[in-house]
Formats: sequence, structure tokens, C-alpha cells
Amino acid sequence: MSLVCLEDFKAYARQQLSKSSWDFIEGEADEGITRSDNIAAFKRIHLRPRYLRDVSKVDTRTTIQGQEISAPICISPSAFHSVAWPDGERSTARAAQEVNICYITSTYTSCTLEDIVAAAPGGLRWFQLYVQPDWELNKRLVQRVEALGFKALVITVDAPVIGNRRQNMRNQLNLEENIMLKDLRSPEERNSTITAPTSLPSPSFCWDDLSMFQTMTRLPIILKGILTKEDAELAVKHNVQGIYVSNHGGRQLDGVPASIDALTEVVAAVKGKIEVYMDGGVRTGSDVLKALALGARCIFLGRPILWGLTCKGEYGVKEVLNILKAELHTSMALSGCQSVAEISPDLIQFSRL
Ligand code: FNR
Repeated sequence: MSLVCLEDFKAYARQQLSKSSWDFIEGEADEGITRSDNIAAFKRIHLRPRYLRDVSKVDTRTTIQGQEISAPICISPSAFHSVAWPDGERSTARAAQEVNICYITSTYTSCTLEDIVAAAPGGLRWFQLYVQPDWELNKRLVQRVEALGFKALVITVDAPVIGNRRQNMRNQLNLEENIMLKDLRSPEERNSTITAPTSLPSPSFCWDDLSMFQTMTRLPIILKGILTKEDAELAVKHNVQGIYVSNHGGRQLDGVPASIDALTEVVAAVKGKIEVYMDGGVRTGSDVLKALALGARCIFLGRPILWGLTCKGEYGVKEVLNILKAELHTSMALSGCQSVAEISPDLIQFSRL
């Protein structure tokens, strides 16, 4: 079967996985309204292409937090990659390094952070933190990722508790229980007297606690899961370096807007002061173009990376990224954009379907 678009990878991955693994990856909260809308909302947005421009050379390169990437297409944090492929996050990291984009490593990886870094030492990586109730553990984790060469700390804010995933319940997959089994200590700490703390995200983490991270690290801090102008303004006020618009792929609070719809509100509130990223429902190069035209610096991919990983491991992830890069290249040429900097809001036309 030839896999020519991200949807092809989805169909093929579904055939390869057990029902409960497929449901874990696809899983949505409650009725799945937000998850479906993440995809549908992109289709409601139309493009206004400009012609008779020289697009013989199109350059998809850009920067995030000052670091160059080959295209504004990077990898969202997602937990437990070994569900998709035995080598887990090591394969994901190698693919990201080869394509020269950023891979955000989740708190809940299947292998150690040290193994991931050893697999792809030259890759650009950020670390996603689910803030832990134990502040000593937060500190050790942050210092460890900084020492391991991670270039930003992405704090997920939309999961004070885990959303209601009906399919997991039907399959008797207890995500909380699996998370509690995760040992967040470094290999070195495991040989010491430091005991393995439990690791569910902290439900009491608040705006005022952010400064604790700012005193413990010099890494840029990015808040993942912001959906409103009020929280975007607070994020700017609290001096974070980036906002990542996301509804967790529709896996947390059902009924919130599609990420691409929330993006406009957040971008307007931020007024260009910090970088804004997004994920949720990005499946084609023209989706990427739309997100950039609406003010995202870069998009991130969640499930499509796990489909690629399931189909062909590292090579599948590379193919998914390269297909989307090629589609973006084509969409840019077809809309008259030579470079990412030329992608502007003028490209967008909203219409009622
Ligand atoms: C996620 N997501 C997620 N987010 C996060 O901050 N930390 C995590 O550990 C995880 N884990 C996770 C597991 C799986 C299986 C999925 C599918 C998603 C959410 C993820 O980062 C991202 O926000 C969404 O997946 C983006 O939507 P799409 O691209 O999947 O539509």
C-alpha cells in the first residue's frame, strides 16, 4: 500500500494496532466534539491565493525560540511511544533529528530521557512537563533536562486532572494507573536513596507558582494548552517566552473550541510580544499554511506522528514529516509565498459552509 498523505498512515496504523492501543492513541474526551472540530474547523477556512509571483524557489525554513528548523512542522509531546513501536521515543527522536525539526518529549516517555538523547544527540528537543506535586522532583527534572541539552520547558496547563476517555474505560485501560507506574528518576537517582515518587500531574499548580520554575531554570518557558485571551494576557504578564494553543487533541475538556479557532483570539491578545504555536487537527500542508497565516509561528503534530511510528518506526515518522513538508511547500507555491515570512493574514478568507 502506498502511503501518500497523513490519512493513509492513519488507515494503515489502525490495521496494525490492537483495539486498545488504537483507542488509546485516537482517544477523545467524552463525546469527542472538540476532537472532531479540530479537523472540521480547518476545512471552514478558505485561502486567498496570490498569483503571478516568482515561486521558483520556496523556502520552508523558520526559527522557534531562536533555533532554526527546516519547516514550521514539529512533534507534539505524547506519552508512551512504545505502544506504537518497540523502540519508542528513540525512533521518534532520530526521525526528528534527520528532518531537522523540534521534538517535544513528554514527561511520560516509555524509555529514559538519557536514552532518547543518546539516540539523537544532535536533535532540537524541548521537554514537556506535567508539573508534579513534589517540588523537589520538579527541580530535579528541570535541572536534568537542562543538563541533557533540552532547549525549552513546555508546561502543560490543561491537565490538572485527566480527561474522561470513554474508550479507555470500556477497554479497562487505567491511564492513571499506568502513569503512576512511571518512574521519573534519572538512572543515577534510581541507584541512590531517592525513592520513586508517584507522578500524576499536580491539580493545584497555579499562576503564582510559575515563578518557581523561573528561578530554577534559564530555559525559555512555554505554556501548552492556553485557549483564551484572558490566559494569554496572564501568560505575557508572567513573562513566559511562548504560548502553545492546544486542546490536547480533544482529550481533556470536551466542548472547547477547535485549536485553530482559539488561535485567533490568543494571537490578538499577545500582540506579537511572544511566539505562539498550535496543535490539534493539522493533517495537510494547507492546514499548516492556514495556521501560520493566522499567526502561529509553528505547528505541532500529535497523532500523525504515532501513526507514522506504528507503520514504519523511525522511517514512518520521517515520511509523515516529509509528506507534510512537501505539501506545505506546494501550498506556499500555489498561494504565492516564497518564504514563511510572506505567509500573512491576507491569505485567509473565512466563509460559512
Ligand atoms: C497526547 N498529548 C499529550 N500532551 C501533553 O502535553 N503531554 C502528553 O504526555 C500527551 N500525551 C498524549 C498522548 C497521546 C496518545 C496523544 C494522541 C496526545 C496531546 C498532544 O500533545 C497534542 O496536543 C495533540 O495530540 C494534538 O492534536 P492532534 O495532532 O493529535 O490532532
